[in-house]
Amino acid sequence: MRPVSVKEHDFKKCDQSGFCKRNRAFADNASAQSSTWSSPYDIIPESASFKDGQWQAVIAKTINDGERVRFPITVSLLKSGVARISVDEERRQKKDIELRHNSKARKERYNEAENWVIVGGLDLDKKAQVVFQDKSQANIKYGGDDKLEVIIKYSPFEVDFRRDEESHIKFNDRGLLNMEHWRPKIEKENKEGEEAKADENTKTDSGEDESTWWDESFGGNTDSKPRGPESIAMDISFTGYEQVFGIPEHTGSISLRQTRGGDGNHNEPYRLYNTDVFEYVLDSPMTLYGAIPFMQAHRKDSSVGVFWLNAAETWVDIVKEKDSKNPLSLGKSTTSTHTHWISESGILDAFVFMGPTPRDLTKKYGELTGYTAMPQEFSIGYHQCRWNYISDDDVKDVDRRMDKYKIPYDVIWLDIEYTDEKKYFTWDPHSFADPVSMGQQLDAHGRKLVVIIDPHIKKVDGYPVSSNMLSKDLAVHNKEDEIFEGWCWPGSSNWVDCFNPKANEWWKTLFKYDFFKGTLENTFLWNDMNEPSVFNGPETTMPKDNIHFGNWEHRDVHNLNGLTFHNASWEAMVSRRKGERRRPFILTRSFYAGSQRLGAMWTGDNQANWEHLAASIPMVLNQGISGFPFAGADVGGFFGNPDKDLMARWYQAGIFYPFMRAHAHIDSRRREPYMLGEPYTEILTKALRLRYSLLPSWYTAFFHANRDGSPVVRPMFWTHPSEESGFAIDDQLFLGTTGLLAKPIVEKDKFSTDIWIPDDEVYFDYTSLQVMKTQKGKKVTVDAAIDAVPLLMRGGHIFPRRDIPRRSAAAMRFDDYTLVVTVSKGGSAEGELYADDGDTFDNENGQYVYRKFQLADNILKSTDAEGRDPKSIKAGTWLNAMRDVYVDRVVVVGAPATLNQQEVLIESEGRTWAVKVEYHAAEKGRTAFAVLGRVGAKIGEDWTINFA
Ligand code: NOJ
Repeated sequence: MRPVSVKEHDFKKCDQSGFCKRNRAFADNASAQSSTWSSPYDIIPESASFKDGQWQAVIAKTINDGERVRFPITVSLLKSGVARISVDEERRQKKDIELRHNSKARKERYNEAENWVIVGGLDLDKKAQVVFQDKSQANIKYGGDDKLEVIIKYSPFEVDFRRDEESHIKFNDRGLLNMEHWRPKIEKENKEGEEAKADENTKTDSGEDESTWWDESFGGNTDSKPRGPESIAMDISFTGYEQVFGIPEHTGSISLRQTRGGDGNHNEPYRLYNTDVFEYVLDSPMTLYGAIPFMQAHRKDSSVGVFWLNAAETWVDIVKEKDSKNPLSLGKSTTSTHTHWISESGILDAFVFMGPTPRDLTKKYGELTGYTAMPQEFSIGYHQCRWNYISDDDVKDVDRRMDKYKIPYDVIWLDIEYTDEKKYFTWDPHSFADPVSMGQQLDAHGRKLVVIIDPHIKKVDGYPVSSNMLSKDLAVHNKEDEIFEGWCWPGSSNWVDCFNPKANEWWKTLFKYDFFKGTLENTFLWNDMNEPSVFNGPETTMPKDNIHFGNWEHRDVHNLNGLTFHNASWEAMVSRRKGERRRPFILTRSFYAGSQRLGAMWTGDNQANWEHLAASIPMVLNQGISGFPFAGADVGGFFGNPDKDLMARWYQAGIFYPFMRAHAHIDSRRREPYMLGEPYTEILTKALRLRYSLLPSWYTAFFHANRDGSPVVRPMFWTHPSEESGFAIDDQLFLGTTGLLAKPIVEKDKFSTDIWIPDDEVYFDYTSLQVMKTQKGKKVTVDAAIDAVPLLMRGGHIFPRRDIPRRSAAAMRFDDYTLVVTVSKGGSAEGELYADDGDTFDNENGQYVYRKFQLADNILKSTDAEGRDPKSIKAGTWLNAMRDVYVDRVVVVGAPATLNQQEVLIESEGRTWAVKVEYHAAEKGRTAFAVLGRVGAKIGEDWTINFA
């Protein structure tokens, strides 16, 4: 039975969103006219100029009376090989428009999204060259070598992005560019009487439907639209690409579906409008809590992408079409993906990435929007949450019981009930009378507390946070330019406006230890409801005509709202105490491109059923390829009561979420792992121990995400971009560069699964060390009883583990390492370890260990991955302590016969000693393996072991 689901009618469909409907109609009209349709936009040839990597011109739109409306365009060629196209509207730029309803809103199109989102990568490619130009087009080569070229055609306006002389991405190729220019409202006399036709008054003289231009109602709320129609839309075609990925947050497969109906397709465009969707549906293009308008197209050996930098409500239609090919040609027919991007307001600002690999895309996208922050080390451990732990004693009790049952965990969470009547920065005086002793008990074992702080501030007398915010005028305003009031958990509330720098300064003061009394250094943060969720607002959020700092309308900035709140909290957490420079950990529900710099996200209010467990994996993978890999879903499911098997499978899947937190709704039964009883408590514990033993590998994967944007958990098309049969696979994943390939079981009563194998390499079962009978591009069956997770090791990797089970990540900080070497078919392997103090920013000053391990020609060696001389680094406290951390064991899976001996020699820093070897010959399908015990090599030093 399909679970209870979202009240879909509470949220708009495209035809209930005026600008979406208008632009879809525009597209329908264009396709109805097909060959005779021509875009009304063209470049004024005389306006074109080129200097220092930037091409500028004016696009003119011819409107019905022959008038030409001017839109300045800039094409920026960036050093990174990324191209950017920005289009504004001249008249609005000049503020030469009239606002209706005495609105205080800004007159310009919103052009500040980049201030929040872009952190680098904007250097212009001054070597870019116009290689051809006449009255009809300009061809510009860019990107360092001769590979990339952009061809701007003037009439009709069209842009063609080419790599190696081949077209990959086209803008306005189908002529759907539509920038709704400013126009005054022409008041019409109201016809009275029965016979007045409903739509008579909604058509302009030129026949356009203006029914949603000047105001628009939905669910009893009316949006006043003081600037009239102002949407922007454009078609973007990925020529020769059948698959597109990205644009989270949605449920459904990572390979995006078509949206214009037909078998197996969606009927609605993918929507990006951050919203608190109650009990969301699966496999849907419906909007969720966050938005990253970054789309990637992939085909065999080629990836390209587009980042649509616009913070307003956005819809994306996707259609795939077989390319018409020359009937005489014998080549394979190709399919292209045509997309149509539609945003309600703002400027048109799009970045174009030419790949050619998925890795290039994530790297360059990260150069622009920032890479994932290095996490607090504890935050990649296990988080225990529920709505709510009911008292400080309850928290202490859970903490004790986790220890009693030897269940590792690092963090316990407090949801909204810890506060005094939902007044953030306070504690309930009865149930949380002693937060300090609670925090201290946790700290005794290096554990942390996360408390929730939401952006709605209770409107009540005698609450200094509220009176302060209001007297300083730091809250969001309504359309009358008064403080906006709405309804959320505390009842009547106001919303802090984090677009306002002064609000951010004030926000910082609230987190100081002497203001938010009861918080300690081990208190961290959860930002929820920051879409923002407004219970009595349109679509559970703020009215679009609300006004933010700088007089921008909420409509312009909506999708950025969550990021600005997360950002204010981040800044507050780094300044809790002067001189305390520690990495914040802040979980956010709402996000936008760039939020990866600030913390982790989770997929919101899922349900305790198998379908939601299955849905979580593609969602987490999609976050990873979209630059925000620190992602997870509520383990166990938020709504409802999972049965024990579901809990077992969810924990086994959850250990492969970069962010692993169990969470549950206030009405659900208690379900801490020890509540389940045996054998389930043991099953959950075993899964958690696996996660904990691999923490060094997880941390290393985060480091890669931090350095170059690589996803922490990786889908198959990303790791194997040439293997077509794997492109759409989104239920299995590789963990970083470890070669660990997991496919969690997500169905009831299923005790085996088929894992797709991307290459000709050898694969071993993680637990049994069986050599899997694999074939490239085919699936292999892996058994997984209820206590087991299907997990393979790809040959050719070396990954670090810490094998002593302990109560928390903190307790393992200075444990010795085990290195697992999985020998490839060719006899080699390589891998990395990155470690730092997991807490401060000292890593930015060289305080880290970064090792590269290599096995080749029977020699296993460890070297500094960056060629640094460890002795040249002035060590602080952490690095000093690390100097006494060793490689304790090396486990060689697929061990060469030469290891069949008593001992091998290790050489390090001029010393040589013998290491004992335990060799196990292959038997019954299990590979040969060897365990080198008490290796005794310092993790931070160079060493070499000779297997011969
Ligand atoms: C909504 C969040 O999604 C959920 O995780 C939380 O428990 C509730 N808000 C209460 O704060």
